[in-house]
Amino acid sequence: MATDPGIAPATIRAYVLERPGPAGLSLVERRLPAPAAGQVMVRMRAASLNFRDVKIFRGSYQLPVHLPLVPLSDGAGEIVAVGDGVEGLRVGDRVVCLYWEGWRSGAQLEDGDGISDRPARGRTKSAEVDGVALERAVYDACDVLPIPDEMSYEAAACLPCAGVTAWNALIGVTSGDTVLVMGSGGVSLFALQIARARGARVIATSRDEGKRLRLQELGASETVNTSAEPEWGRRVRELTGDGVDLAVDVIGDATVEQTLAATRDGGRISAVGNLSGSFISGTLLERGITARPVVVGSRRMTEELIDAMGSGGIRAVIDRSFAFGELPEALDYLASGDQFGKVLLRFDEE
Ligand SMILES: NC(=O)c1ccc[n+]([C@@H]2O[C@H](COP(=O)([O-])OP(=O)(O)OC[C@H]3O[C@@H](n4cnc5c(N)ncnc54)[C@H](OP(=O)(O)O)[C@@H]3O)[C@@H](O)[C@H]2O)c1
Repeated sequence: MATDPGIAPATIRAYVLERPGPAGLSLVERRLPAPAAGQVMVRMRAASLNFRDVKIFRGSYQLPVHLPLVPLSDGAGEIVAVGDGVEGLRVGDRVVCLYWEGWRSGAQLEDGDGISDRPARGRTKSAEVDGVALERAVYDACDVLPIPDEMSYEAAACLPCAGVTAWNALIGVTSGDTVLVMGSGGVSLFALQIARARGARVIATSRDEGKRLRLQELGASETVNTSAEPEWGRRVRELTGDGVDLAVDVIGDATVEQTLAATRDGGRISAVGNLSGSFISGTLLERGITARPVVVGSRRMTEELIDAMGSGGIRAVIDRSFAFGELPEALDYLASGDQFGKVLLRFDEE
């Protein structure tokens, strides 16, 4: 095993969520993990929060959560030890830690193209396996991905869930398409930029006038303030003539009616937010709209996103970062909905 002894403390700090709620979250000391054959140890440098983390923290996540677990799914850091038999990764490499452990490539659905290796549920960080809110973590080598020199740890930590979900939601979008993105959260700001980088026209919505203007600055072709225009679906339809080709729906129930109004007949909806059964209703069938569920994405999708960021035009939009000891405050801030883009956790060590 190759190790950098200069940065190997005997113990590390780790957050553990024992049960939902503030009283269930504690910061504990753990023994330093050691990588087995085929594994690497990552010194975490930055982590980002997703809305999913708020739901897991509150006990309202729609999928099974196997507590106790280390929270947060998205992190980036440097490799500080390498187990036997690992090829292509070395101590000192800068990496992003993937959200879906074990899903290298291929379509997300079991009945997709037949070449996907996505595991059955059971390997998503911070719901089924430990997340990244800890100072050192051990992963199978295939579950980390090197990042380019020019990409910061903070930017990389925004990719595993939010960035890759946006990439997956936009599969098939090309120039000439019109895309609807909703709100100014992590997924939507990536979706806006990725769609623009492909030459698509992007219509972005926000409930807040100040954020609406920032969406315009970020490259949205047109923007709509949904607080000022509750019937915003009709407004989007007016802007486009017959509706958007693809809507990236990050909200679900609260917005489904307007999303359908904004989508053209025969169009597509990438169903990213939480949907109720009522969403897959007769309306979709009548109008021939295809709704495709999105479950983050694979290692291959992460590689494609990083390549696209390298060729310019797409960046991680970071709202603010909190110190490692301030995870509860960071979760409260994300839950407030005041952010424009990503909220991060720093791993400053004295
Ligand atoms: N299926 C998947 O694979 C997948 C992956 C990632 C995330 N998600 C889901 O996607 C959604 C967004 O996640 P995120 O991490 O990007 O969230 P986020 O960073 O917390 O941002 C959410 C944004 O959406 C807007 N918003 C919040 N509540 C709203 C409401 N009730 N009506 C209208 N707009 C609202 C707000 O923007 P404005 O203030 O500008 O309106 C807010 O900033 C969540 O439901 C999350 O669980 C799913």
